[in-house]
Amino acid sequence: MSPYGCNCLLLVKFVIISALISPQVSSQQASCLATRLSGAEDSGSYTLDVDGQEGPLAEFDVYCDFSGLDTMTVLHHSSEDRIRVSSGGDFHLQVAYPEGSLEQIQVVVQKSSSCKQFLRYECRNSPLRLAENVFWWETTANSRVYSWGGAGGKLGQCLCGTQHNCQPSPEQSCNCDANDTVWRTDEGYLTDKTTLPVVNVSLTAREGQGYLTVGPLICVDVPEFIPNQPWQIVLGTAILVFAAFLTFMPAFVRKW
Ligand SMILES: *[C@@H]1O[C@H](CO)[C@@H](O)[C@H](O)[C@H]1NC(C)=O
Ligand SMILES: *[C@@H]1O[C@H](CO)[C@@H](O)[C@H](O)[C@H]1NC(C)=O
Repeated sequence: MSPYGCNCLLLVKFVIISALISPQVSSQQASCLATRLSGAEDSGSYTLDVDGQEGPLAEFDVYCDFSGLDTMTVLHHSSEDRIRVSSGGDFHLQVAYPEGSLEQIQVVVQKSSSCKQFLRYECRNSPLRLAENVFWWETTANSRVYSWGGAGGKLGQCLCGTQHNCQPSPEQSCNCDANDTVWRTDEGYLTDKTTLPVVNVSLTAREGQGYLTVGPLICVDVPEFIPNQPWQIVLGTAILVFAAFLTFMPAFVRKW
């Protein structure tokens, strides 16, 4: 400790260690997690370059949610309001993501630990009848998925169908299949990364009253703390030894 109260060794140590472990600062980060690790603290819109500077994809803006322990990437679309589904015909909703192209969004999905998208149908005399293929949602690969949110991709099922607790009869696949005058709801998250994001929702032969809600695409980044490359382990050990040396050296010097 110097006479001026500067713990200079500690300061030098801190500067060296920070320089060694701070992420490489580039103009745009590849993910919300990288953005957070580079020092961003407030949730908000950030520009990402999801495939890096060498990749062909352009930069685009996403909403990064840093409010919780998990870092979330939120991709909003243009139809997030509760939509009335009129009876007497087919209903098609095209889900457009103005913030990025489908290619850019798919890279976000691929690189995230998990993704989810909320789906809700509120109904009165308006059965979903998933098993009869009157409903599907399309994926970026133009494949159709006949399973409602919360059913874990199970064909023709809603969440209550997979749990055998649909109302009023546990034999139903969805609450809405009751087709009665009670307002009922089938809702849950789609979580299969290979089929996200949702690009269309189609409900054919609508009857009764219905409201559809399709939530934003929400992806979660989980940090990889465990060093998995030999050079990372060597570097990490070297930093620890160096830090220990700087910390204990003054004591040794005084002793000898
Ligand atoms: C639903 O109920 C209405 C009115 O009770 C009936 O006209 C209609 O055929 C039913 N739809 C199905 C798919 O069972
Ligand atoms: C589904 O979405 C794709 C891409 O957005 C679009 O080209 C296609 O026309 C849509 N299909 C329907 C039935 O709306």
